This record gives sequence, C-alpha cells and structure tokens, in this order.
Amino acid sequence: MIAAPQTAEFPTESTFSRSDWEALSHMWYPIALEEEITDKPLAKKLLDVNLVLARLGDDYVVAKDLCVHRGAPLTEGWIKGSCLVCPYHGYEYEADGRCTKVPSDPDWKIPPQIRLETYLHEVKYGLIWVCLSGAPINALPVWEPEADNPDYLRFTMGPELWDCSAGRAIENFIDNAHFSFVHRNTFGQESSAAQGAEYEFAESDTAMTMAFDYLAGNPDDSPIANSSELQRKMHRTLFLPFCTRTCIAYPGDREHIIHINIAPISAKQSQLIVVFTRNFDKEVPVEDLLAWERKILGEDRAMIEKQKPEEIPLAVSTEVHAKADRASIAFRRWLKKVGLGRTFTA
Ligand code: FES
Ligand SMILES: [Fe+2]
Repeated sequence: MIAAPQTAEFPTESTFSRSDWEALSHMWYPIALEEEITDKPLAKKLLDVNLVLARLGDDYVVAKDLCVHRGAPLTEGWIKGSCLVCPYHGYEYEADGRCTKVPSDPDWKIPPQIRLETYLHEVKYGLIWVCLSGAPINALPVWEPEADNPDYLRFTMGPELWDCSAGRAIENFIDNAHFSFVHRNTFGQESSAAQGAEYEFAESDTAMTMAFDYLAGNPDDSPIANSSELQRKMHRTLFLPFCTRTCIAYPGDREHIIHINIAPISAKQSQLIVVFTRNFDKEVPVEDLLAWERKILGEDRAMIEKQKPEEIPLAVSTEVHAKADRASIAFRRWLKKVGLGRTFTA
C-alpha cells in the first residue's frame, strides 16, 4: 500500500527562516535506521517537525506526530495489528493515513479529514528517507558496489544528535585539509597536509565528487596492523545536501567505505547515522572497529560543535577560502542556487 504523501507546513516553532525551511523541505533526508523501528511508535524530529514512525503491517508510516482529533502525540500511542492507535481516545489509523476506527462512535462514517498527515518516505540501504514537501529535488545516494554485498562487512554508528548545523557538519566531511590537524591523534600527519588540497573535483545537480591520495598515520590503537603509515586512495561523493560516501582504498584492494548520513533536526542540531562497510579484516570484532571510528568522529564532533557562527555564511566573501576549499565553495553555491538565504542555518 502506498501512502499518498502530504506536504508539511512551516512549523510555528521553526528555528529556520521560512524561506530556508521551504527550500530544505524539498529534499530527502535519512531519518532512521530500519532497525530502530520496533513494535512501538518511534519519535523523530526533522526540520523542527515532530514525526512519528511506525511499521504497520508490511508498510512503514512516517507522519506528523499529532492526532487531528485533539492534538495528542501519536508517539505515545501503540500499534495494534496494522494500525497506529492514538493514546487519547483510541482512534485507529492505517499506514495510508486513513482513520478506520473511532471507538466512541463505531457506526460513524468517519470524515476523510480525520487522518494522519503522512509524508513521502522510501527505504534504501536499511535507512528510512523522508521528504517533507513530497517533491524532492535531490537524489537518494548510491552505495555501489558495497550495499547488500556479502563481501563487505557492515556496521553502524548512531543515530547521534550533534549540536551543530547540518551545513557545518557536512562541510567537515568534504574538507580534506583538516585531517592532519583535527585527526593528529589518530590518522592525520602534518607532513601530508598539502595532499588534501589537490583533488580531482566534479559536480552535477545532485552530487559532487572528489578524489585524492593521503599518506595517513597508523598508530598502535588502529585496527589495521603491520605498518606505521598507510597510503590511502580516497574517493568521495557528496550526495547533496548532507550525505557522503567516502571510499578509502588501501594497497591490496582493501576498501573501507564510510557513509555519513545527516538529517537537519533543527537549525542548530543534526542527526548523524554513519554506516561503515569494508571488504577486509572482517574477523576483527566490530566493537574494536567501532571504537576506532568513534575516536575519529569524536575528533570531528569536538571541532564542529564549536564553530562560529553555527550556520554557514553563504556569501562567499564572508569567510576566507584556500585551494583546499573548492568543494566547500561549490557546496555553498549549490545551497544558494536551491534557494537558501545568505546565512543558512541548517
Ligand atoms: S486526540 Fe487522538 S483520538 Fe482524540
Ligand atoms: Fe574528520
């Protein structure tokens, strides 16, 4: 059953300007891992809109977390068969949004306006993607060849809520000049600092790609053994606006692929779901692999959460830009092109 998607309205408590919110509402965002959905409704927030997610029968539903009868939060309700039940008066809603039962008035011909406000969603790569306007202008990412591939081990980090704008967060993940400094206690080396500035770059309406080499350090607590340095061949795709796929290839066809999936919760908070896939060292315990990744991403987080202003200034003249910042300049231009304001706060 395909739910007819509706269009979310600008929330009164929005932390975004109306025009920024409207531009952002036309995009797909990764809102949840499928494994987060249990037999209870799940609460999420996207662009300041409170959402309820649930699995109803064979379908997922993504809807506004509000029952139109008297405004109760559906996330405090429960699932009964293929219905989401409102906790206040027990109205029952199907995955397509229809209300099929009003327990206090069982013979009532239920008016069609009593329904869930459902939003466009799609399931891809074990994530649930949502577009609040129902008319996305961006594309879902492509994770080939590693997705659903038994040659690759998959493990995940998050969802985590970071106190930063989605723009600042994703700019960090397309920035190659920070490795040698932010990550100096993990894989960064100052002697490789210039390597992140020289990269092949290409862009389309929905993606940007960059390719470069980086000679990384490999300290003792890294899960990759046997050498003090590792030559990385890096290939990254930014799936506009807030998702990246970064393939790190080590000698011997060893690939470690990091998928950063960011959703703007509000103008100052972002949700990160990170999916890792790798075709080597698959016998290393996932906890050990994750501990190393957490250490690296913790270094990113500590810096991003302190950047000022929290929003990205879209006027190119506001911050200064070096050769390494080519991707970030292109990213800011794209945001402007799709309608975000001079100071974008997502
Ligand atoms: S508020 Fe939901 S059934 Fe009354
Ligand atoms: Fe980083």
